[in-house]
Amino acid sequence: MKGAIGKIKIAFLFAATALFLAGCGKENLTALVPKGSSAQKSMDLIILTTVVMTLVFIVVMILFVVVLARYRRKKGQEDYIPEQVEGNKTLEIVWTVIPIILVLIMAVPTVVYTFELADDSKAKDHINISVKGNQYWWHFDYTDDKLQTSQDLYIPTGEKVFIHLLSNDVTHSFWVPSIAGKMDVNPENENTMYLEAHEEGVYWGKCAEFCGPSHSLMDFKVIAVSPDKYKQWVKDMKEMDPKEKPETTVAQEGQKLFEEKSCIACHAIGPSPVAVGPNLTDFGNRTKYAGILEPTKENLVNWIVDPEKEKPGNKMTGKYPNVSKEEAGKIAEYLMQIKPSSVTPETAGK
Ligand code: CUA
Repeated sequence: MKGAIGKIKIAFLFAATALFLAGCGKENLTALVPKGSSAQKSMDLIILTTVVMTLVFIVVMILFVVVLARYRRKKGQEDYIPEQVEGNKTLEIVWTVIPIILVLIMAVPTVVYTFELADDSKAKDHINISVKGNQYWWHFDYTDDKLQTSQDLYIPTGEKVFIHLLSNDVTHSFWVPSIAGKMDVNPENENTMYLEAHEEGVYWGKCAEFCGPSHSLMDFKVIAVSPDKYKQWVKDMKEMDPKEKPETTVAQEGQKLFEEKSCIACHAIGPSPVAVGPNLTDFGNRTKYAGILEPTKENLVNWIVDPEKEKPGNKMTGKYPNVSKEEAGKIAEYLMQIKPSSVTPETAGK
């Protein structure tokens, strides 16, 4: 009876853990539903190694059970000593060669894929984006098109986009599991990888290297759109006029406050390679505010009034004079109406 209760307890623990872990999966944040060529290669390797391991497990278990059943000591055999196989050449060769073959089956494709994924010799023929990691946000510089943005990275589907990764402070790690593997973002050397999305979508990106108190909040998005939409987006972003007057009076006041409260000293609107803080050129179209907050006015106001509360250790805190809730509301109105392009995360089927 005691044993049965123990088993029930273990079964319950497994079920609860499975249920808990099931909550971790997000359709656009998983390597198990690949939506890009690099992620597909990782998935191929995951399947290959799982198949090999499962086969080994099954064969070992069958042999184990057969030996247990067939060669157990029987009545009248108490003094029987079975044939000794120590030093048996054939057996030694068999159980050395089989594991070597299995390791080779897994190692050869892994090494081939590793070199393929690291190959940036053809980067010049493709789109190149310089990515800078910062505590706790991402800067994207479309070097060929001379335009900049942050947090939402637009790429065309069906094309290789080479990203060149460098950090402005500590080591981060760039990871969009649905599209590609992760790559370290170091302050001292540039790492290059490519993204190639198969279909339109908004794919979740994460910093995958502990980089400070808000590491887990250093999210970003990759927005994959059709090549036509991408061209449109680039055109709109380049033609965006940062000086344009907003329609409403409140937003106009917000625009003035944006300058008076020195927000503009760190945040560029429009193309600018300098980025002390996130570039806000397409802010009104962002999927999230500050990378993590649902894009509502209330959230934006709270963020502007007290960023430390939302993202501890961020570098915006204390960099500007006090902003009241009312003033923050006006700045929010201004920022939320900055929508330079009709190509948005929604058009990518968010
Ligand atoms: Cu950046 Cu963790």
